Amino acid sequence: MNCARWIHAAFAFVLIVPVAHAQNEQIPHLVHEVERTQLLVDGNPFLILGGQAGNSSASNLEDIEVVYRALDAIHANTAEIPLSWNLLEREPGRFDFHLVDGAIEGARRHHLKLVFLWFGTAKNATFSYVPDWVKSDRITYFRAHDASGREMDAISPFCDAALKADQRAFSAVMRHIHEFDRQYHTVILMQVENETGLIHTDRDYSPAAAKAFEGQPPSNLLSYLQEHREALTPALQNAWKQAGYRKNGTWAEVFGDLAPEVFSAWSVSRYVDGVAEAGKAEYAIPYYVNVSLMNTGSARAGDWPSGGPTYHVIDVWKATARHIDILAPDIYRVDFPQMATIYNRPDNVLFVPETGFAPYYAPYVFTTLAGMDGIGFSPFGIDHAYKDGTFTAAGAALEENYRILRPLLPIIARNRYRGTLFPIVLEMYRHESVAISLGDSLTAVVHFDEKFVADTEAHRGGGIIIKLAADKFIVAGEGFHIEFAELKGIPRNSEYLSIEEGTFDGEKWVTKRVLNGDEENTTLLTRQPRILQVRLNRTLK
Ligand code: DGJ
Repeated sequence: MNCARWIHAAFAFVLIVPVAHAQNEQIPHLVHEVERTQLLVDGNPFLILGGQAGNSSASNLEDIEVVYRALDAIHANTAEIPLSWNLLEREPGRFDFHLVDGAIEGARRHHLKLVFLWFGTAKNATFSYVPDWVKSDRITYFRAHDASGREMDAISPFCDAALKADQRAFSAVMRHIHEFDRQYHTVILMQVENETGLIHTDRDYSPAAAKAFEGQPPSNLLSYLQEHREALTPALQNAWKQAGYRKNGTWAEVFGDLAPEVFSAWSVSRYVDGVAEAGKAEYAIPYYVNVSLMNTGSARAGDWPSGGPTYHVIDVWKATARHIDILAPDIYRVDFPQMATIYNRPDNVLFVPETGFAPYYAPYVFTTLAGMDGIGFSPFGIDHAYKDGTFTAAGAALEENYRILRPLLPIIARNRYRGTLFPIVLEMYRHESVAISLGDSLTAVVHFDEKFVADTEAHRGGGIIIKLAADKFIVAGEGFHIEFAELKGIPRNSEYLSIEEGTFDGEKWVTKRVLNGDEENTTLLTRQPRILQVRLNRTLK
């Protein structure tokens, strides 16, 4: 190599290597510290105010545009858009990415981030999104069987040919997204499959599955369970305990009555992890799976999708699906906080990729982000935010909450895991007032304007308190007023130094209005969301 070429090559090395490194560092990723997880996008913590498109709202770009417009109108920052395997690979090995590209370009135009939902082998515990050539070849792509030997409308988790085909398609998708988006980071998360598990059977009884069920649980599963023995969810812990924490034996010998569901969770999570692993080899942004929860009144696995990452078998998924970063609950149950708590674990940051699109669920965005340090919230069916040019009840409820949350996101992100975020939600059984301990001998007594009405269409007040200092708070939301009760000395409420209405520009408070006289109170009227900065006089000892 002559000298000039050598110098050129050396420069190329110096210039190219750090750039490539920087790009790699900046792809959306999760950062885990002890029991804390941040989603970083472009190097900054990102919180998702999302909305999910209906299942059939992403088969053409015009419909996707409608979804994006609805998201703009409600101040969302992220779209969740399905990607159907059957539309992407109508013929084996021939991929059509025009919906992928169009969805990404549209999101960029609308300044939205994007979560793609890979509807591959599994969709709501069936196979409705697999290509026709998979569905119609029941020998190669064999199906799960129920206990009576009947073929089900789901691919068997033991079907290697289906796994290979799904891996090929998903890795093609991720390779393409990497090429198309790696410098823009529009796509921030991938959902792998959709609500996995098997419905109407407790496990797969196909010949391949039956053979595996007669064998032993794999040693890596058992050693993981052993390592986390004290922290396993109750059903799994009890089942294994009753078998004397056996480390060998058939599935039934080791897990007793829970064996079919544990076996199903292991086989389904192994399959999904295989798909995720293939995708991660192409583009390793964070991946999650969504969970169809166990409904109240369901008795046995198969009443809910058996083998999905439900409460019973979360630990089996954690042991097996090592390429899945988050197990994310779809919460359509009215006991939202209880369900969210299950998935808010040191090894699993809370992300709610679906919840009911109804006024009842809208204030749970505060529970998710402020109460549980979650990274995102995203009601399902967001295309219905509007009807005839006006917001629907659900659209209005979400818009009111997202409108005040949007400017607060940097402050919320900075306050996560500090115990300085407090959700305010009018809950059933909590009547019209709640006392929220703020620390430093201070309690916020929240009086709601309305009573709780047991109807998911009824409006519910809600909001957030952010503690900036012992005497300084952000209060945002609507439908309540607050008294700050001093806990030390004679019973009294704090005096105010100032109350300002305003917003944030990044992390800088911007005052719009100073409240005094008749307005010197922390009142956030129903359906009139606003952000207040409250300073208290705490000099009286
Ligand atoms: C949960 C699924 O994950 C969604 O794709 C959709 O089918 C909703 N259920 C409908 O309620």
